[in-house]
Amino acid sequence: MEQTTKKIIIALDGFSSCGKSTFAKAIAARLGYIFIDTGAMYRAVTLYALEQGAIGENGVDEAAVVQLLPQINISFRFNAERGASDVYVNGELVEDKIRSIEVSNAVSSVSSIGAVREKLVAMQQQMGRERGVVMDGRDIGTVVFPDAELKIFMTAEATVRAQRRYAELTAKGDNVTLEEILENVISRDKADMERAISPLRQAEDAVVLDNSHMSVEEQMAWFMERYEAIVNA
Ligand code: DC
Repeated sequence: MEQTTKKIIIALDGFSSCGKSTFAKAIAARLGYIFIDTGAMYRAVTLYALEQGAIGENGVDEAAVVQLLPQINISFRFNAERGASDVYVNGELVEDKIRSIEVSNAVSSVSSIGAVREKLVAMQQQMGRERGVVMDGRDIGTVVFPDAELKIFMTAEATVRAQRRYAELTAKGDNVTLEEILENVISRDKADMERAISPLRQAEDAVVLDNSHMSVEEQMAWFMERYEAIVNA
């Protein structure tokens, strides 16, 4: 009798701009898994807080953000064209808006609020309860799914990440310098690692993938070897 392959949770944590979501999307497509971009959820809360005036010139009003939380309904819908899910806030498609510079600048502060993390972590645990998911973030292997069968900690040299981001932004016509991008990459790393609640750190049982000098095909081969070993064990 044919056996169905067991479904697992793949936790993908790591630094910003090292290609986590591209990699997660490719894995999900290959395995027929659901890809969940948890960064998009923190960005969605940040966007709503900006729109409701809870973030102003003096920065993030934490109490106001916490008060808004019960009214924020985040959902995902699969977009076949992108091969990934789009994020919605209270029924409105916000996939583009959450990538704006205003959201990027405020999201570190919003994601350091305990009540925000509690709400989003609970949602993420619910979304992964049937396994068969690739979840990308900063605390998936340490906090959200400490029992994930495969934990990957992704990294790449800061200069390589800055260069990739620079190529991406200049291709879109953005007027940026490599120096300012490198500065942003380094400061985001620092903020993610030094946050008091759920800082970015490698889970003890995570495998490290440094993709500084790897092609997407090489990364996939690296992944499949580890995945097969787990599901066939
Ligand atoms: O992956 P990203 O750059 O879109 O994430 C946006 C921000 O959200 C990032 O600054 C860190 C935060 N984040 C987090 O604190 N925990 C997660 N699981 C995912 C993202």
